[in-house]
Amino acid sequence: ESSTPVIVAIDGPSGTGKSSTSKAVAAQLGLSYLDTGAQYRAITWWMVTNGIDTADPSAIAAAAGKPEILSGTDPEKPAITVDGVDVAGPIREQEVTSKVSAVSAVPEVRTRITELQRSIAASAVTGIVVEGRDIGTTVLPDADLKIFLTASPEARAARRSGELKGADLQATREALVKRDAADSSRKTSPLAKADDAVEVDTTDLTLQQVIECVVTLVEEKRAGR
Ligand code: DC
Repeated sequence: ESSTPVIVAIDGPSGTGKSSTSKAVAAQLGLSYLDTGAQYRAITWWMVTNGIDTADPSAIAAAAGKPEILSGTDPEKPAITVDGVDVAGPIREQEVTSKVSAVSAVPEVRTRITELQRSIAASAVTGIVVEGRDIGTTVLPDADLKIFLTASPEARAARRSGELKGADLQATREALVKRDAADSSRKTSPLAKADDAVEVDTTDLTLQQVIECVVTLVEEKRAGR
């Protein structure tokens, strides 16, 4: 039944082309889009802005319920606000990037953000592409299709430093490997491939090829059910 909403989970470490792929797939198929990393970045931005010590998990836990985080789901113009403030720019800054792993490891933060993600996914009319680290394993274990994107650390660092103009390749690689290690080793729903996820190694693929691959997988799922 093609009118049933289709739920697509796309997980993987940073620099695998997750965001670009997820947005393009959602746009091509007329689905909603949710960037869950942006939500963790938004709550981290709020902690930093309000002087919460991000090295203190109990301080983070106590404040986790305070900010109101709203995510837009249009793949053509993803929006994110915290207490009504547009934070799309500030959440990409270095300070937030360096602190987001610590904040997102706190269980109270994950519970809060996971609830938000589930309610957004449940209200998507045609369906939704949700990208993150634990979508297929924890947030939406019943997703219709689960994709796990990978790429070599070299390819991921090269893509990231291309995005951050002028960034040093070696430093980018080190920061990225460090953040992935933290995200993969935390106790509460770490970055992980679900058993029933399709793994796509993007190292030697162009973005266009990855997008086509995922679009085909979604269409096959829709045709087959
Ligand atoms: O995708 P991103 O780089 O914007 O994600 C930022 C951080 O948020 C990432 O280092 C770990 C965390 N994150 C998470 O813990 N769970 C998710 N589903 C998505 C992101």
